[in-house]
Amino acid sequence: MSDAGYVLGQSERAARRLALQDRHFAAPSEALLDALALAPTDRVVELGCGPGGMTQRIVKRLGAGGVVVGVDASAALLEQAKQALAGTGPGRHEFIQADISKPDAWLDGTDVVIGRAVLHHVPMAEFLLGRLRGTLKPGTRIGFLEPDFRRPLAALAFAETTRPELAPLLAFAKAINDLYAAWRISPAVGASLAPALEDAGYADVRHTWHPFASDASVLENLAMIYDEVRDTLASLGILTPAEIEAQKQLLRALPTGTLPPVWGLHQVTAHA
Ligand SMILES: C[S@@+](CC[C@H](N)C(=O)[O-])C[C@H]1O[C@@H](n2cnc3c(N)ncnc32)[C@H](O)[C@@H]1O
Repeated sequence: MSDAGYVLGQSERAARRLALQDRHFAAPSEALLDALALAPTDRVVELGCGPGGMTQRIVKRLGAGGVVVGVDASAALLEQAKQALAGTGPGRHEFIQADISKPDAWLDGTDVVIGRAVLHHVPMAEFLLGRLRGTLKPGTRIGFLEPDFRRPLAALAFAETTRPELAPLLAFAKAINDLYAAWRISPAVGASLAPALEDAGYADVRHTWHPFASDASVLENLAMIYDEVRDTLASLGILTPAEIEAQKQLLRALPTGTLPPVWGLHQVTAHA
Protein backbone atom coordinates (compact mmCIF):
# COMPACT_ATOMS: atom_id res chain seq x y z
CA MET A 1 0.00 0.00 0.00
CA SER A 2 1.27 3.49 -0.75
CA ASP A 3 0.79 6.40 1.67
CA ALA A 4 -2.06 7.47 -0.62
CA GLY A 5 -4.03 4.24 -0.08
CA TYR A 6 -5.29 5.26 3.38
CA VAL A 7 -8.64 7.04 3.63
CA LEU A 8 -7.93 9.02 6.81
CA GLY A 9 -5.26 11.70 7.28
CA GLN A 10 -1.53 11.40 7.90
CA SER A 11 -0.79 14.99 8.91
CA GLU A 12 0.14 16.26 12.37
CA ARG A 13 -3.52 17.22 12.80
CA ALA A 14 -4.51 13.63 12.00
CA ALA A 15 -1.94 12.44 14.55
CA ARG A 16 -3.49 14.82 17.13
CA ARG A 17 -6.89 13.25 16.42
CA LEU A 18 -5.41 9.78 16.92
CA ALA A 19 -3.93 11.01 20.25
CA LEU A 20 -7.42 12.15 21.34
CA GLN A 21 -8.79 8.82 20.14
CA ASP A 22 -6.09 7.04 22.17
CA ARG A 23 -7.61 8.60 25.30
CA HIS A 24 -11.08 7.19 24.65
CA PHE A 25 -9.54 3.88 23.55
CA ALA A 26 -7.61 3.75 26.88
CA ALA A 27 -9.70 1.19 28.78
CA PRO A 28 -10.15 -1.28 25.87
CA SER A 29 -6.43 -0.89 24.99
CA GLU A 30 -5.31 -1.80 28.49
CA ALA A 31 -7.88 -4.64 28.57
CA LEU A 32 -6.41 -6.03 25.33
CA LEU A 33 -2.87 -5.89 26.72
CA ASP A 34 -4.05 -7.60 29.94
CA ALA A 35 -5.71 -10.35 27.87
CA LEU A 36 -2.51 -10.89 25.86
CA ALA A 37 -0.45 -11.15 29.10
CA LEU A 38 2.66 -9.53 27.62
CA ALA A 39 5.89 -11.00 29.04
CA PRO A 40 8.95 -8.75 29.60
CA THR A 41 10.99 -10.39 26.82
CA ASP A 42 8.23 -10.62 24.20
CA ARG A 43 8.79 -9.55 20.61
CA VAL A 44 5.56 -7.73 19.73
CA VAL A 45 4.66 -6.70 16.20
CA GLU A 46 2.11 -3.91 16.06
CA LEU A 47 0.28 -3.73 12.73
CA GLY A 48 -0.60 -0.18 11.61
CA CYS A 49 0.96 1.55 14.62
CA GLY A 50 0.24 5.05 13.22
CA PRO A 51 1.63 7.82 15.47
CA GLY A 52 2.33 5.35 18.28
CA GLY A 53 -0.46 5.76 20.86
CA MET A 54 -0.82 2.01 21.39
CA THR A 55 2.95 1.49 20.94
CA GLN A 56 3.56 3.68 24.00
CA ARG A 57 1.23 1.46 26.04
CA ILE A 58 3.05 -1.68 24.80
CA VAL A 59 6.64 -0.53 25.64
CA LYS A 60 5.56 0.19 29.21
CA ARG A 61 4.57 -3.46 29.62
CA LEU A 62 7.86 -4.87 28.23
CA GLY A 63 11.23 -5.23 29.94
CA ALA A 64 14.60 -4.20 28.51
CA GLY A 65 14.76 -7.59 26.75
CA GLY A 66 11.47 -7.04 24.97
CA VAL A 67 10.79 -5.13 21.77
CA VAL A 68 7.80 -3.73 19.94
CA VAL A 69 8.10 -3.45 16.16
CA GLY A 70 5.65 -0.87 14.81
CA VAL A 71 4.75 -1.46 11.16
CA ASP A 72 2.89 1.15 9.13
CA ALA A 73 2.61 2.25 5.51
CA SER A 74 2.70 5.97 6.31
CA ALA A 75 6.17 7.52 6.56
CA ALA A 76 4.64 10.67 8.08
CA LEU A 77 2.83 8.80 10.88
CA LEU A 78 5.91 6.60 11.54
CA GLU A 79 8.00 9.75 11.95
CA GLN A 80 5.53 11.00 14.56
CA ALA A 81 5.62 7.60 16.29
CA LYS A 82 9.44 7.78 16.48
CA GLN A 83 9.21 11.20 18.11
CA ALA A 84 6.48 10.08 20.54
CA LEU A 85 8.46 6.99 21.57
CA ALA A 86 11.85 8.71 21.97
CA GLY A 87 13.18 8.08 25.48
CA THR A 88 10.30 5.76 26.49
CA GLY A 89 10.70 2.25 27.87
CA PRO A 90 11.53 0.00 29.49
CA GLY A 91 10.89 -2.05 26.32
CA ARG A 92 12.74 -1.26 23.08
CA HIS A 93 11.00 -0.08 19.93
CA GLU A 94 11.66 -0.28 16.20
CA PHE A 95 9.64 1.00 13.25
CA ILE A 96 9.29 -0.43 9.76
CA GLN A 97 7.53 1.11 6.77
CA ALA A 98 5.65 -1.70 5.05
CA ASP A 99 2.29 -2.85 3.76
CA ILE A 100 0.86 -5.03 6.54
CA SER A 101 -1.42 -6.84 4.11
CA LYS A 102 1.70 -8.65 2.88
CA PRO A 103 3.22 -10.50 5.88
CA ASP A 104 7.02 -10.41 5.58
CA ALA A 105 10.32 -10.90 7.43
CA TRP A 106 9.24 -8.35 10.07
CA LEU A 107 7.08 -11.13 11.55
CA ASP A 108 10.03 -13.50 12.12
CA GLY A 109 10.37 -14.62 15.74
CA THR A 110 7.23 -12.76 16.83
CA ASP A 111 5.58 -13.76 20.11
CA VAL A 112 2.60 -11.38 19.88
CA VAL A 113 0.83 -9.58 17.01
CA ILE A 114 -1.33 -6.58 17.92
CA GLY A 115 -3.45 -4.27 15.80
CA ARG A 116 -5.65 -1.41 16.97
CA ALA A 117 -8.12 0.22 14.57
CA VAL A 118 -6.20 -1.08 11.58
CA LEU A 119 -7.90 -4.14 10.03
CA HIS A 120 -10.88 -2.01 9.02
CA HIS A 121 -8.50 -0.07 6.74
CA VAL A 122 -7.26 -3.24 5.00
CA PRO A 123 -9.43 -4.38 2.09
CA MET A 124 -10.37 -8.07 2.52
CA ALA A 125 -8.70 -8.14 5.94
CA GLU A 126 -9.67 -11.81 6.32
CA PHE A 127 -7.04 -12.70 3.68
CA LEU A 128 -4.42 -11.13 5.97
CA LEU A 129 -5.71 -13.07 9.02
CA GLY A 130 -5.48 -16.38 7.17
CA ARG A 131 -2.03 -15.61 5.77
CA LEU A 132 -0.87 -14.59 9.24
CA ARG A 133 -1.90 -17.98 10.61
CA GLY A 134 0.21 -19.61 7.88
CA THR A 135 3.22 -17.44 8.79
CA LEU A 136 3.19 -17.24 12.61
CA LYS A 137 4.74 -19.95 14.77
CA PRO A 138 2.11 -22.02 16.61
CA GLY A 139 1.17 -20.46 19.93
CA THR A 140 1.79 -16.85 18.83
CA ARG A 141 -0.76 -14.63 20.59
CA ILE A 142 -2.72 -12.24 18.44
CA GLY A 143 -5.01 -9.45 19.57
CA PHE A 144 -7.05 -6.79 17.80
CA LEU A 145 -9.24 -3.86 18.69
CA GLU A 146 -11.45 -3.03 15.72
CA PRO A 147 -14.20 -0.41 15.51
CA ASP A 148 -17.75 -1.16 14.47
CA PHE A 149 -19.75 1.66 12.90
CA ARG A 150 -22.85 -0.54 12.37
CA ARG A 151 -23.73 -2.55 15.48
CA PRO A 152 -24.90 0.43 17.62
CA LEU A 153 -27.10 1.87 14.88
CA ALA A 154 -30.30 -0.10 15.48
CA ALA A 155 -30.34 1.02 19.13
CA LEU A 156 -29.48 4.56 18.03
CA ALA A 157 -32.22 4.64 15.37
CA PHE A 158 -34.71 3.34 17.94
CA ALA A 159 -33.66 6.08 20.39
CA GLU A 160 -34.04 8.67 17.61
CA THR A 161 -37.75 7.80 17.23
CA THR A 162 -38.36 9.70 20.50
CA ARG A 163 -35.22 11.90 20.48
CA PRO A 164 -34.97 13.59 17.05
CA GLU A 165 -31.94 15.58 18.23
CA LEU A 166 -29.91 12.35 17.80
CA ALA A 167 -30.13 12.70 14.00
CA PRO A 168 -26.54 14.05 13.61
CA LEU A 169 -25.18 10.82 15.14
CA LEU A 170 -27.07 8.84 12.47
CA ALA A 171 -25.86 11.28 9.78
CA PHE A 172 -22.25 10.71 10.87
CA ALA A 173 -22.78 6.93 10.83
CA LYS A 174 -24.23 7.12 7.32
CA ALA A 175 -21.36 9.29 6.03
CA ILE A 176 -18.65 7.00 7.46
CA ASN A 177 -20.41 3.89 6.11
CA ASP A 178 -20.76 5.47 2.65
CA LEU A 179 -17.09 6.48 2.73
CA TYR A 180 -15.94 2.99 3.68
CA ALA A 181 -18.14 1.46 0.99
CA ALA A 182 -16.55 3.76 -1.61
CA TRP A 183 -13.07 2.73 -0.40
CA ARG A 184 -14.03 -0.96 -0.40
CA ILE A 185 -13.19 -1.35 3.27
CA SER A 186 -15.44 -2.67 6.02
CA PRO A 187 -16.94 -0.48 8.77
CA ALA A 188 -17.75 -3.65 10.74
CA VAL A 189 -14.85 -6.07 10.16
CA GLY A 190 -14.53 -6.45 13.95
CA ALA A 191 -18.01 -7.95 14.24
CA SER A 192 -17.09 -11.09 12.31
CA LEU A 193 -13.48 -11.24 13.49
CA ALA A 194 -13.93 -13.87 16.22
CA PRO A 195 -15.84 -16.41 14.08
CA ALA A 196 -13.49 -15.74 11.14
CA LEU A 197 -10.47 -16.55 13.35
CA GLU A 198 -12.18 -19.69 14.66
CA ASP A 199 -12.94 -20.86 11.12
CA ALA A 200 -9.29 -20.23 10.16
CA GLY A 201 -8.18 -22.58 12.95
CA TYR A 202 -6.95 -20.09 15.53
CA ALA A 203 -7.26 -21.42 19.10
CA ASP A 204 -8.68 -19.90 22.29
CA VAL A 205 -10.59 -17.15 20.45
CA ARG A 206 -12.12 -14.62 22.85
CA HIS A 207 -14.33 -11.63 22.11
CA THR A 208 -15.44 -8.57 24.10
CA TRP A 209 -17.52 -5.62 22.85
CA HIS A 210 -16.68 -2.14 24.15
CA PRO A 211 -19.34 0.45 23.14
CA PHE A 212 -18.41 4.11 23.69
CA ALA A 213 -20.86 6.45 25.37
CA SER A 214 -21.03 9.46 23.02
CA ASP A 215 -19.28 11.81 25.46
CA ALA A 216 -17.54 15.10 24.68
CA SER A 217 -14.27 13.48 23.53
CA VAL A 218 -16.12 11.03 21.25
CA LEU A 219 -18.10 13.94 19.71
CA GLU A 220 -14.88 15.93 19.24
CA ASN A 221 -13.36 12.92 17.48
CA LEU A 222 -16.38 12.73 15.12
CA ALA A 223 -15.96 16.41 14.26
CA MET A 224 -12.23 15.88 13.64
CA ILE A 225 -12.98 12.89 11.38
CA TYR A 226 -15.33 15.15 9.39
CA ASP A 227 -12.47 17.66 9.00
CA GLU A 228 -10.01 14.94 8.00
CA VAL A 229 -12.20 13.49 5.24
CA ARG A 230 -14.03 16.68 4.20
CA ASP A 231 -12.53 16.77 0.68
CA THR A 232 -12.98 13.02 0.18
CA LEU A 233 -16.64 13.13 1.27
CA ALA A 234 -17.22 16.06 -1.08
CA SER A 235 -15.44 14.46 -4.05
CA LEU A 236 -17.48 11.26 -3.58
CA GLY A 237 -20.74 13.24 -3.42
CA ILE A 238 -21.49 11.98 0.11
CA LEU A 239 -21.70 15.37 1.86
CA THR A 240 -20.83 18.88 0.69
CA PRO A 241 -18.48 21.03 2.82
CA ALA A 242 -21.50 23.15 3.83
CA GLU A 243 -23.43 20.05 4.93
CA ILE A 244 -20.39 18.90 6.92
CA GLU A 245 -20.21 22.26 8.72
CA ALA A 246 -23.94 22.03 9.52
CA GLN A 247 -23.52 18.49 10.89
CA LYS A 248 -20.55 19.61 13.02
CA GLN A 249 -22.69 22.37 14.53
CA LEU A 250 -25.48 19.91 15.32
CA LEU A 251 -22.93 17.56 16.95
CA ARG A 252 -21.60 20.44 19.05
CA ALA A 253 -25.14 21.24 20.25
CA LEU A 254 -25.84 17.68 21.49
CA PRO A 255 -26.46 17.32 25.24
CA THR A 256 -23.57 15.09 26.38
CA GLY A 257 -24.18 12.71 29.25
CA THR A 258 -27.26 10.98 27.85
CA LEU A 259 -26.18 10.06 24.33
CA PRO A 260 -26.23 6.44 23.15
CA PRO A 261 -23.13 4.98 21.46
CA VAL A 262 -22.57 5.62 17.75
CA TRP A 263 -19.59 3.27 17.60
CA GLY A 264 -17.53 0.91 19.69
CA LEU A 265 -14.57 -1.47 19.61
CA HIS A 266 -14.43 -5.24 19.31
CA GLN A 267 -11.62 -6.80 21.33
CA VAL A 268 -10.58 -10.18 19.92
CA THR A 269 -7.67 -12.34 21.06
CA ALA A 270 -6.53 -15.79 19.91
CA HIS A 271 -3.52 -18.08 19.52
CA ALA A 272 -2.10 -19.08 16.11
C1 LIG B 1 -6.89 4.54 12.30
S1 LIG B 1 -5.16 4.50 12.22
C2 LIG B 1 -4.79 3.70 13.76
C3 LIG B 1 -3.37 3.95 14.21
C4 LIG B 1 -2.98 3.27 15.53
N1 LIG B 1 -3.10 1.83 15.45
C5 LIG B 1 -3.80 3.79 16.67
O1 LIG B 1 -4.65 3.06 17.18
O2 LIG B 1 -3.58 4.96 17.06
C6 LIG B 1 -4.82 3.21 11.02
C7 LIG B 1 -3.35 3.05 10.70
O3 LIG B 1 -3.19 1.92 9.84
C8 LIG B 1 -2.24 2.24 8.84
N2 LIG B 1 -2.52 1.36 7.68
C9 LIG B 1 -3.70 1.23 7.04
N3 LIG B 1 -3.58 0.29 6.06
C10 LIG B 1 -2.29 -0.16 6.10
C11 LIG B 1 -1.55 -1.11 5.34
N4 LIG B 1 -2.09 -1.82 4.34
N5 LIG B 1 -0.25 -1.30 5.66
C12 LIG B 1 0.33 -0.61 6.67
N6 LIG B 1 -0.32 0.31 7.41
C13 LIG B 1 -1.62 0.53 7.14
C14 LIG B 1 -2.45 3.71 8.57
O4 LIG B 1 -1.32 4.31 7.96
C15 LIG B 1 -2.73 4.24 9.97
O5 LIG B 1 -1.54 4.59 10.63
